[in-house]
Amino acid sequence: MALLSVQGVTKRFGGLTAVNAVSFDVAKGEILGIIGPNGAGKTTLFSLISGFLTPDEGDVLFDGQSIKGVPTHVQVDRGLVRSFQIVQTFADMDVLDVVTTAALAKLPMVEAIDFAAQTIRRVGLGGKEYLTPAVLSLQDKKLLEVAKCVATQPRLILLDEVMAGLTMAETEAPLAVIRELNASGVTIVMVEHVMPVIMRTATRIAVINFGEKIAEGTPQGIVEDKRVIEAYFGEHLDA
Ligand SMILES: Nc1ncnc2c1ncn2[C@@H]1O[C@H](COP(=O)(O)OP(=O)(O)O)[C@@H](O)[C@H]1O
Ligand SMILES: [Mg+2]
Repeated sequence: MALLSVQGVTKRFGGLTAVNAVSFDVAKGEILGIIGPNGAGKTTLFSLISGFLTPDEGDVLFDGQSIKGVPTHVQVDRGLVRSFQIVQTFADMDVLDVVTTAALAKLPMVEAIDFAAQTIRRVGLGGKEYLTPAVLSLQDKKLLEVAKCVATQPRLILLDEVMAGLTMAETEAPLAVIRELNASGVTIVMVEHVMPVIMRTATRIAVINFGEKIAEGTPQGIVEDKRVIEAYFGEHLDA
């Protein structure tokens, strides 16, 4: 049985159908990549899965149970968590506070602080516990987003463009964290714009264009798919 099953979800904003009857399954242990042009509906799709938005149509099953409309904190309790594309910072909290708050989803305070400190080191932010997130580099802010997810001890993480804006060299650290997490048993769905990154990391890729899933397959199959080339790579290949 799939760990996550997205079944024909649709979301409309007024006259705009941001996500249109999208379906896919994610097996336990996979790294599913989701790609597609800007505005394709990827973040909206994540919001529908993680409970920030409720689909107008369709259903989302996590571990065989419908989670459609289930509030985010309940989903985190069950083991499904998302990162945010826009890195959020909090004026009065340091890195340790931010990650501890996430860890409190599963642990009492003393253990949460401990686990947060451990998680911060695990993602490579060791030594930055007492900095305010606002002063972190973009790369470190992204790692903090990953740390917040990891601290909730998830079974499935939805990562929304955690590599965006980073140089290829800067993607190495978050990528290593993602691979290590996956190796430890965490299932991953990642939206990413940096193509070489997703090609090297994902076990399978789904392509979204204008709210619809237009292709799904292995990284190699996807780059050879005509619809994908037209929708996504067209301009680059023509250039
Ligand atoms: N809350 C919202 N209200 C109205 N339109 C939205 C909202 N969120 C997203 N959209 C629109 O839905 C479409 C898909 O957006 P989004 O899911 O952010 O795309 P992506 O993450 O693939 O770039 C875009 O046209 C965007 O402007
Ligand atoms: Mg987005």
